[in-house]
Amino acid sequence: MAGFPEGFLWGAATAAHQVEGNNLNSDLWVLEHVKPTLFVEPSLDACDHYSRFAKDIRLLASLGLNTYRFSIEWARIEPERGCFSRAVLDHYRRVLAACHETDVTPMVTLYHFSSPRWFAGLGGWENPLAGDLFVRYAERASRHLGDLISYATTFNEPNLPMLLGWVADLGVSLLTVRSMRNHAARAIGSDRFGCFFLGDAEKLQDHMIAAHHRARAAMKSGPRAFPVGVSLALQDEQMDGPKSQRDRKRAEAYEPWLEAAGASDFLGIQTYTRQRVGKSKDLPPESDVELTQMGYEFWPEALEACIRYAAGRVPVPIYVTENGVATEDDERRIEYIRRALAGVGNCLADGIDVRGYIHWSLMDNFEWIMGYRPKFGLVAVNRETQERAVKPSGRYLGWIARRNAMPEPAGK
Ligand code: BGC
Repeated sequence: MAGFPEGFLWGAATAAHQVEGNNLNSDLWVLEHVKPTLFVEPSLDACDHYSRFAKDIRLLASLGLNTYRFSIEWARIEPERGCFSRAVLDHYRRVLAACHETDVTPMVTLYHFSSPRWFAGLGGWENPLAGDLFVRYAERASRHLGDLISYATTFNEPNLPMLLGWVADLGVSLLTVRSMRNHAARAIGSDRFGCFFLGDAEKLQDHMIAAHHRARAAMKSGPRAFPVGVSLALQDEQMDGPKSQRDRKRAEAYEPWLEAAGASDFLGIQTYTRQRVGKSKDLPPESDVELTQMGYEFWPEALEACIRYAAGRVPVPIYVTENGVATEDDERRIEYIRRALAGVGNCLADGIDVRGYIHWSLMDNFEWIMGYRPKFGLVAVNRETQERAVKPSGRYLGWIARRNAMPEPAGK
Protein backbone atom coordinates (compact mmCIF):
# COMPACT_ATOMS: atom_id res chain seq x y z
CA MET A 1 0.00 0.00 0.00
CA ALA A 2 1.22 3.47 -0.86
CA GLY A 3 0.98 5.27 2.50
CA PHE A 4 0.37 8.91 3.35
CA PRO A 5 2.33 10.76 6.05
CA GLU A 6 1.33 10.26 9.65
CA GLY A 7 -1.21 12.81 10.84
CA PHE A 8 -2.48 13.45 7.30
CA LEU A 9 -5.86 15.20 7.40
CA TRP A 10 -8.66 13.36 5.60
CA GLY A 11 -11.82 15.36 5.43
CA ALA A 12 -14.88 16.71 3.74
CA ALA A 13 -16.02 20.32 3.43
CA THR A 14 -19.20 22.36 3.46
CA ALA A 15 -20.01 26.09 3.58
CA ALA A 16 -22.64 27.70 5.77
CA HIS A 17 -24.84 29.23 3.08
CA GLN A 18 -24.79 26.03 1.04
CA VAL A 19 -25.89 23.65 3.79
CA GLU A 20 -27.26 25.39 6.88
CA GLY A 21 -30.51 26.73 5.44
CA ASN A 22 -32.44 29.95 6.01
CA ASN A 23 -29.48 32.30 5.98
CA LEU A 24 -31.97 35.15 6.13
CA ASN A 25 -29.64 38.02 6.97
CA SER A 26 -27.19 37.34 4.16
CA ASP A 27 -26.69 39.29 0.96
CA LEU A 28 -27.20 36.12 -1.09
CA TRP A 29 -30.61 35.45 0.43
CA VAL A 30 -31.66 38.89 -0.84
CA LEU A 31 -30.27 38.19 -4.32
CA GLU A 32 -32.01 34.81 -4.45
CA HIS A 33 -35.39 36.44 -3.83
CA VAL A 34 -35.40 39.53 -6.05
CA LYS A 35 -36.61 39.50 -9.62
CA PRO A 36 -34.77 39.20 -11.90
CA THR A 37 -32.16 36.99 -10.26
CA LEU A 38 -29.24 34.94 -11.49
CA PHE A 39 -30.14 32.12 -9.10
CA VAL A 40 -32.08 29.28 -10.70
CA GLU A 41 -33.72 28.64 -7.31
CA PRO A 42 -33.40 29.92 -3.72
CA SER A 43 -31.47 28.07 -1.02
CA LEU A 44 -34.38 27.90 1.47
CA ASP A 45 -33.80 25.08 4.00
CA ALA A 46 -30.69 23.84 2.17
CA CYS A 47 -29.63 20.68 4.07
CA ASP A 48 -30.93 22.03 7.39
CA HIS A 49 -27.41 21.50 8.67
CA TYR A 50 -27.91 24.33 11.18
CA SER A 51 -30.04 21.95 13.25
CA ARG A 52 -28.66 18.63 12.00
CA PHE A 53 -24.94 19.36 12.39
CA ALA A 54 -24.33 16.86 15.22
CA LYS A 55 -25.67 13.92 13.20
CA ASP A 56 -23.83 15.11 10.09
CA ILE A 57 -20.53 15.30 11.95
CA ARG A 58 -21.09 11.83 13.42
CA LEU A 59 -21.78 10.58 9.90
CA LEU A 60 -18.54 12.15 8.63
CA ALA A 61 -16.62 10.48 11.45
CA SER A 62 -18.33 7.14 10.85
CA LEU A 63 -17.05 7.16 7.26
CA GLY A 64 -13.50 7.21 8.63
CA LEU A 65 -12.73 10.88 7.95
CA ASN A 66 -10.84 12.83 10.60
CA THR A 67 -11.38 16.44 9.51
CA TYR A 68 -14.40 18.66 8.93
CA ARG A 69 -13.96 21.93 7.08
CA PHE A 70 -16.94 24.26 7.45
CA SER A 71 -17.61 27.97 7.53
CA ILE A 72 -19.12 30.11 10.24
CA GLU A 73 -21.64 32.63 8.96
CA TRP A 74 -20.88 36.32 9.43
CA ALA A 75 -24.48 37.23 8.51
CA ARG A 76 -25.74 35.23 11.50
CA ILE A 77 -23.00 36.20 13.93
CA GLU A 78 -23.35 39.93 13.23
CA PRO A 79 -26.91 40.30 11.90
CA GLU A 80 -26.80 44.10 12.29
CA ARG A 81 -23.69 46.22 12.13
CA GLY A 82 -21.97 46.07 15.51
CA CYS A 83 -24.56 43.69 17.05
CA PHE A 84 -23.07 40.27 17.70
CA SER A 85 -25.27 37.31 18.52
CA ARG A 86 -24.00 35.37 21.49
CA ALA A 87 -26.56 32.63 20.78
CA VAL A 88 -25.17 32.11 17.29
CA LEU A 89 -21.58 32.12 18.53
CA ASP A 90 -22.65 29.50 21.09
CA HIS A 91 -24.17 27.49 18.27
CA TYR A 92 -20.80 27.38 16.53
CA ARG A 93 -19.16 26.39 19.83
CA ARG A 94 -21.51 23.38 19.82
CA VAL A 95 -20.52 22.57 16.22
CA LEU A 96 -16.84 22.69 17.20
CA ALA A 97 -17.51 20.63 20.32
CA ALA A 98 -19.32 18.02 18.18
CA CYS A 99 -16.14 17.71 16.11
CA HIS A 100 -13.93 17.18 19.15
CA GLU A 101 -16.37 14.66 20.65
CA THR A 102 -15.97 12.51 17.54
CA ASP A 103 -12.19 13.04 17.21
CA VAL A 104 -12.71 15.15 14.12
CA THR A 105 -10.33 18.08 13.55
CA PRO A 106 -12.27 21.25 12.77
CA MET A 107 -10.98 23.60 10.06
CA VAL A 108 -13.01 26.80 10.12
CA THR A 109 -13.52 29.22 7.24
CA LEU A 110 -14.41 32.73 8.36
CA TYR A 111 -15.83 33.88 5.06
CA HIS A 112 -17.22 31.64 2.33
CA PHE A 113 -18.76 34.05 -0.23
CA SER A 114 -21.73 35.28 1.85
CA SER A 115 -21.85 38.57 3.80
CA PRO A 116 -24.41 40.22 6.08
CA ARG A 117 -26.94 42.21 4.08
CA TRP A 118 -26.00 45.42 5.96
CA PHE A 119 -22.42 44.92 4.69
CA ALA A 120 -23.76 44.68 1.12
CA GLY A 121 -25.66 47.91 1.73
CA LEU A 122 -22.38 49.66 2.55
CA GLY A 123 -20.98 48.57 -0.81
CA GLY A 124 -19.44 45.29 0.41
CA TRP A 125 -15.73 44.73 -0.19
CA GLU A 126 -15.45 47.85 -2.35
CA ASN A 127 -15.99 50.02 0.70
CA PRO A 128 -12.64 51.13 2.20
CA LEU A 129 -14.09 50.36 5.66
CA ALA A 130 -14.73 46.71 4.72
CA GLY A 131 -11.42 45.48 6.16
CA ASP A 132 -12.06 47.09 9.56
CA LEU A 133 -15.52 45.54 9.73
CA PHE A 134 -14.24 42.11 8.78
CA VAL A 135 -11.35 42.24 11.24
CA ARG A 136 -13.73 43.15 14.05
CA TYR A 137 -15.83 40.09 13.18
CA ALA A 138 -12.71 37.89 13.01
CA GLU A 139 -11.53 39.12 16.37
CA ARG A 140 -14.94 38.53 17.94
CA ALA A 141 -15.26 35.04 16.47
CA SER A 142 -11.79 34.06 17.60
CA ARG A 143 -12.33 35.35 21.12
CA HIS A 144 -15.49 33.26 21.46
CA LEU A 145 -14.48 30.14 19.54
CA GLY A 146 -10.71 30.16 19.30
CA ASP A 147 -10.03 27.64 22.07
CA LEU A 148 -11.89 24.99 20.03
CA ILE A 149 -10.53 25.78 16.54
CA SER A 150 -7.71 23.61 15.15
CA TYR A 151 -7.12 25.35 11.80
CA ALA A 152 -8.73 28.37 10.17
CA THR A 153 -8.78 30.12 6.86
CA THR A 154 -9.78 33.74 6.53
CA PHE A 155 -11.28 33.65 3.04
CA ASN A 156 -12.55 30.97 0.73
CA GLU A 157 -11.31 31.56 -2.83
CA PRO A 158 -10.88 35.34 -2.58
CA ASN A 159 -9.18 35.23 -5.99
CA LEU A 160 -12.34 33.94 -7.68
CA PRO A 161 -13.50 37.34 -9.01
CA MET A 162 -10.13 37.79 -10.77
CA LEU A 163 -10.39 34.27 -12.16
CA LEU A 164 -13.91 34.90 -13.45
CA GLY A 165 -12.51 37.82 -15.43
CA TRP A 166 -10.79 35.25 -17.66
CA VAL A 167 -13.94 33.33 -18.53
CA ALA A 168 -14.83 34.17 -22.14
CA ASP A 169 -18.58 33.80 -21.70
CA LEU A 170 -20.04 33.66 -18.21
CA GLY A 171 -23.46 32.97 -19.68
CA VAL A 172 -25.11 35.77 -17.68
CA SER A 173 -26.65 38.92 -19.06
CA LEU A 174 -25.13 42.13 -17.72
CA LEU A 175 -28.56 43.71 -17.87
CA THR A 176 -29.92 41.04 -15.52
CA VAL A 177 -26.98 41.54 -13.17
CA ARG A 178 -27.53 45.30 -13.05
CA SER A 179 -31.26 44.96 -12.51
CA MET A 180 -30.78 42.27 -9.82
CA ARG A 181 -28.36 44.55 -7.97
CA ASN A 182 -30.66 47.55 -8.16
CA HIS A 183 -33.61 45.55 -6.86
CA ALA A 184 -31.46 44.09 -4.06
CA ALA A 185 -30.30 47.57 -3.01
CA ARG A 186 -33.90 48.76 -2.94
CA ALA A 187 -34.98 45.67 -0.96
CA ILE A 188 -32.55 46.52 1.84
CA GLY A 189 -33.18 50.28 1.69
CA SER A 190 -29.75 51.25 0.37
CA ASP A 191 -28.46 52.92 -2.77
CA ARG A 192 -25.77 50.25 -3.13
CA PHE A 193 -25.46 46.49 -3.07
CA GLY A 194 -21.91 45.21 -3.08
CA CYS A 195 -21.37 41.50 -2.95
CA PHE A 196 -18.37 39.25 -3.41
CA PHE A 197 -19.41 37.91 -6.82
CA LEU A 198 -20.28 41.25 -8.36
CA GLY A 199 -17.73 43.87 -7.37
CA ASP A 200 -14.76 45.51 -9.04
CA ALA A 201 -12.33 42.58 -8.84
CA GLU A 202 -9.15 44.63 -8.48
CA LYS A 203 -10.44 46.89 -5.75
CA LEU A 204 -11.84 43.89 -3.96
CA GLN A 205 -8.51 42.09 -4.17
CA ASP A 206 -6.57 44.98 -2.63
CA HIS A 207 -9.03 45.32 0.24
CA MET A 208 -9.24 41.58 0.88
CA ILE A 209 -5.49 40.95 0.89
CA ALA A 210 -4.99 43.68 3.49
CA ALA A 211 -7.95 42.31 5.48
CA HIS A 212 -6.55 38.77 5.31
CA HIS A 213 -3.30 39.76 7.05
CA ARG A 214 -5.06 41.80 9.72
CA ALA A 215 -7.76 39.16 10.34
CA ARG A 216 -5.11 36.47 10.60
CA ALA A 217 -3.29 38.44 13.28
CA ALA A 218 -6.59 39.12 15.08
CA MET A 219 -7.49 35.44 15.09
CA LYS A 220 -4.11 34.39 16.37
CA SER A 221 -4.34 36.81 19.26
CA GLY A 222 -7.38 34.94 20.65
CA PRO A 223 -7.33 32.25 23.33
CA ARG A 224 -5.22 29.86 21.21
CA ALA A 225 -2.82 30.57 18.34
CA PHE A 226 -3.94 27.98 15.77
CA PRO A 227 -2.60 28.00 12.18
CA VAL A 228 -4.41 30.46 9.89
CA GLY A 229 -4.17 30.27 6.12
CA VAL A 230 -6.18 31.11 3.03
CA SER A 231 -7.85 28.83 0.47
CA LEU A 232 -7.38 29.73 -3.19
CA ALA A 233 -9.17 28.66 -6.36
CA LEU A 234 -6.60 27.24 -8.74
CA GLN A 235 -6.94 25.66 -12.15
CA ASP A 236 -4.46 23.58 -14.06
CA GLU A 237 -3.65 26.18 -16.71
CA GLN A 238 -2.75 24.55 -19.98
CA MET A 239 -1.54 26.57 -22.92
CA ASP A 240 -3.36 26.69 -26.18
CA GLY A 241 -2.06 30.13 -26.90
CA PRO A 242 1.11 32.02 -26.09
CA LYS A 243 2.90 31.15 -22.84
CA SER A 244 2.97 34.83 -21.96
CA GLN A 245 -0.82 34.74 -21.83
CA ARG A 246 -0.85 31.96 -19.26
CA ASP A 247 1.76 33.81 -17.24
CA ARG A 248 -0.35 36.95 -17.38
CA LYS A 249 -3.35 35.02 -16.09
CA ARG A 250 -1.31 33.56 -13.26
CA ALA A 251 0.13 36.96 -12.42
CA GLU A 252 -3.36 38.41 -12.22
CA ALA A 253 -5.47 35.67 -10.71
CA TYR A 254 -3.04 33.78 -8.46
CA GLU A 255 0.23 35.45 -7.66
CA PRO A 256 -0.91 38.30 -5.39
CA TRP A 257 -2.81 35.81 -3.27
CA LEU A 258 -0.05 33.20 -3.37
CA GLU A 259 2.23 35.85 -1.95
CA ALA A 260 -0.28 36.49 0.84
CA ALA A 261 -0.58 32.74 1.49
CA GLY A 262 3.20 32.44 1.58
CA ALA A 263 3.24 34.90 4.47
CA SER A 264 0.57 32.86 6.32
CA ASP A 265 0.69 29.49 8.10
CA PHE A 266 -0.51 27.39 5.19
CA LEU A 267 -2.04 27.46 1.75
CA GLY A 268 -5.36 25.78 0.97
CA ILE A 269 -5.62 24.57 -2.61
CA GLN A 270 -9.03 24.17 -4.25
CA THR A 271 -9.22 22.82 -7.75
CA TYR A 272 -11.74 21.06 -9.95
CA THR A 273 -10.47 21.01 -13.51
CA ARG A 274 -7.90 22.04 -16.07
CA GLN A 275 -8.33 25.21 -18.11
CA ARG A 276 -6.90 25.87 -21.53
CA VAL A 277 -5.81 29.47 -21.89
CA GLY A 278 -6.22 30.97 -25.34
CA LYS A 279 -4.91 34.16 -26.94
CA SER A 280 -6.90 36.52 -24.77
CA LYS A 281 -9.27 34.53 -22.53
CA ASP A 282 -9.93 30.98 -21.35
CA LEU A 283 -11.06 28.55 -24.02
CA PRO A 284 -14.18 26.38 -23.78
CA PRO A 285 -13.73 22.63 -23.10
CA GLU A 286 -12.57 20.49 -26.00
CA SER A 287 -15.42 18.89 -27.91
CA ASP A 288 -14.61 15.23 -27.31
CA VAL A 289 -13.99 15.23 -23.55
CA GLU A 290 -16.19 14.12 -20.67
CA LEU A 291 -17.92 17.05 -18.94
CA THR A 292 -19.15 17.28 -15.37
CA GLN A 293 -22.51 18.75 -14.31
CA MET A 294 -20.72 22.10 -14.00
CA GLY A 295 -19.69 21.93 -17.66
CA TYR A 296 -16.05 21.46 -16.60
CA GLU A 297 -13.77 18.90 -18.19
CA PHE A 298 -13.47 15.77 -16.04
CA TRP A 299 -9.83 16.29 -15.12
CA PRO A 300 -8.69 14.88 -11.76
CA GLU A 301 -5.04 15.31 -12.76
CA ALA A 302 -5.54 19.06 -12.22
CA LEU A 303 -4.84 18.54 -8.54
CA GLU A 304 -1.28 17.30 -8.99
CA ALA A 305 -0.52 20.10 -11.43
CA CYS A 306 -1.91 22.78 -9.10
CA ILE A 307 -0.03 21.45 -6.08
CA ARG A 308 3.23 21.45 -8.04
CA TYR A 309 2.66 24.97 -9.34
CA ALA A 310 1.77 26.36 -5.90
CA ALA A 311 4.54 24.47 -4.11
CA GLY A 312 7.04 26.19 -6.37
CA ARG A 313 5.79 29.54 -5.14
CA VAL A 314 4.94 29.29 -1.47
CA PRO A 315 7.24 28.21 1.35
CA VAL A 316 4.38 27.02 3.58
CA PRO A 317 2.60 23.63 4.00
CA ILE A 318 -0.20 22.84 1.58
CA TYR A 319 -3.62 21.40 2.41
CA VAL A 320 -6.07 20.46 -0.31
CA THR A 321 -9.09 22.23 1.15
CA GLU A 322 -11.46 21.43 -1.74
CA ASN A 323 -11.44 19.01 -4.64
CA GLY A 324 -14.32 17.10 -6.15
CA VAL A 325 -16.66 16.60 -9.06
CA ALA A 326 -20.33 17.30 -9.81
CA THR A 327 -21.89 14.14 -11.13
CA GLU A 328 -24.94 11.90 -10.72
CA ASP A 329 -22.71 8.94 -11.51
CA ASP A 330 -20.98 8.07 -8.27
CA GLU A 331 -18.63 5.62 -10.05
CA ARG A 332 -17.12 8.65 -11.78
CA ARG A 333 -16.64 10.36 -8.38
CA ILE A 334 -14.72 7.31 -7.17
CA GLU A 335 -12.56 7.41 -10.28
CA TYR A 336 -12.02 11.15 -9.80
CA ILE A 337 -10.93 10.68 -6.18
CA ARG A 338 -8.67 7.76 -7.10
CA ARG A 339 -6.82 9.73 -9.79
CA ALA A 340 -6.68 12.97 -7.78
CA LEU A 341 -5.17 11.11 -4.82
CA ALA A 342 -2.66 9.35 -7.05
CA GLY A 343 -1.52 12.87 -7.98
CA VAL A 344 -1.21 13.83 -4.32
CA GLY A 345 0.87 10.67 -3.82
CA ASN A 346 3.21 11.70 -6.65
CA CYS A 347 3.69 15.12 -5.05
CA LEU A 348 4.45 13.54 -1.67
CA ALA A 349 6.92 11.16 -3.28
CA ASP A 350 8.75 14.21 -4.63
CA GLY A 351 8.98 15.69 -1.15
CA ILE A 352 6.22 18.31 -1.47
CA ASP A 353 4.75 19.16 1.91
CA VAL A 354 1.05 18.26 1.43
CA ARG A 355 -0.67 17.67 4.74
CA GLY A 356 -4.28 16.92 3.98
CA TYR A 357 -7.01 16.16 1.47
CA ILE A 358 -10.46 17.61 2.13
CA HIS A 359 -13.12 16.65 -0.36
CA TRP A 360 -15.86 18.93 -1.67
CA SER A 361 -18.38 18.15 -0.46
CA LEU A 362 -19.58 16.16 2.53
CA MET A 363 -23.11 16.24 1.09
CA ASP A 364 -25.08 17.35 -1.95
CA ASN A 365 -25.89 21.02 -1.40
CA PHE A 366 -26.80 24.43 -2.79
CA GLU A 367 -24.43 25.14 -5.66
CA TRP A 368 -24.90 28.94 -5.71
CA ILE A 369 -26.58 30.30 -8.84
CA MET A 370 -26.91 26.75 -10.20
CA GLY A 371 -29.13 25.67 -7.32
CA TYR A 372 -29.45 22.06 -6.21
CA ARG A 373 -28.87 20.24 -9.52
CA PRO A 374 -25.08 19.72 -9.37
CA LYS A 375 -24.26 16.84 -7.05
CA PHE A 376 -20.89 17.14 -5.33
CA GLY A 377 -21.66 15.10 -2.20
CA LEU A 378 -20.14 11.96 -0.70
CA VAL A 379 -23.55 11.77 0.94
CA ALA A 380 -26.89 12.27 -0.84
CA VAL A 381 -29.56 14.43 0.77
CA ASN A 382 -33.27 13.94 0.26
CA ARG A 383 -34.48 17.53 0.38
CA GLU A 384 -38.07 16.55 1.20
CA THR A 385 -37.22 14.42 4.25
CA GLN A 386 -33.65 15.66 4.86
CA GLU A 387 -32.56 12.02 5.05
CA ARG A 388 -28.89 11.38 4.35
CA ALA A 389 -27.63 8.40 2.33
CA VAL A 390 -23.92 7.61 2.12
CA LYS A 391 -22.75 7.07 -1.46
CA PRO A 392 -20.14 4.43 -2.38
CA SER A 393 -17.66 7.30 -2.94
CA GLY A 394 -18.07 8.27 0.73
CA ARG A 395 -17.20 4.74 1.78
CA TYR A 396 -14.31 4.68 -0.69
CA LEU A 397 -12.70 7.87 0.62
CA GLY A 398 -13.37 6.73 4.20
CA TRP A 399 -11.64 3.41 3.49
CA ILE A 400 -8.53 5.25 2.28
CA ALA A 401 -8.69 7.64 5.24
CA ARG A 402 -8.88 4.84 7.80
CA ARG A 403 -5.84 3.10 6.36
CA ASN A 404 -4.05 6.34 5.49
CA ALA A 405 -3.14 4.60 2.24
CA MET A 406 -4.43 3.99 -1.27
CA PRO A 407 -5.71 0.52 -2.19
CA GLU A 408 -3.24 -1.69 -4.09
CA PRO A 409 -3.83 -1.48 -7.85
CA ALA A 410 -5.78 -4.55 -9.08
CA GLY A 411 -3.56 -7.53 -9.92
CA LYS A 412 -0.85 -6.75 -7.37
C1 BGC B 1 -16.49 26.76 -3.70
C2 BGC B 1 -17.69 25.94 -3.26
C3 BGC B 1 -18.40 25.38 -4.47
C4 BGC B 1 -17.43 24.45 -5.18
C5 BGC B 1 -18.01 23.72 -6.37
C6 BGC B 1 -15.74 26.17 -4.85
O1 BGC B 1 -15.52 27.18 -5.77
O2 BGC B 1 -15.67 27.06 -2.62
O3 BGC B 1 -18.52 26.78 -2.52
O4 BGC B 1 -19.59 24.76 -4.17
O5 BGC B 1 -16.33 25.19 -5.61
O6 BGC B 1 -18.32 24.57 -7.42
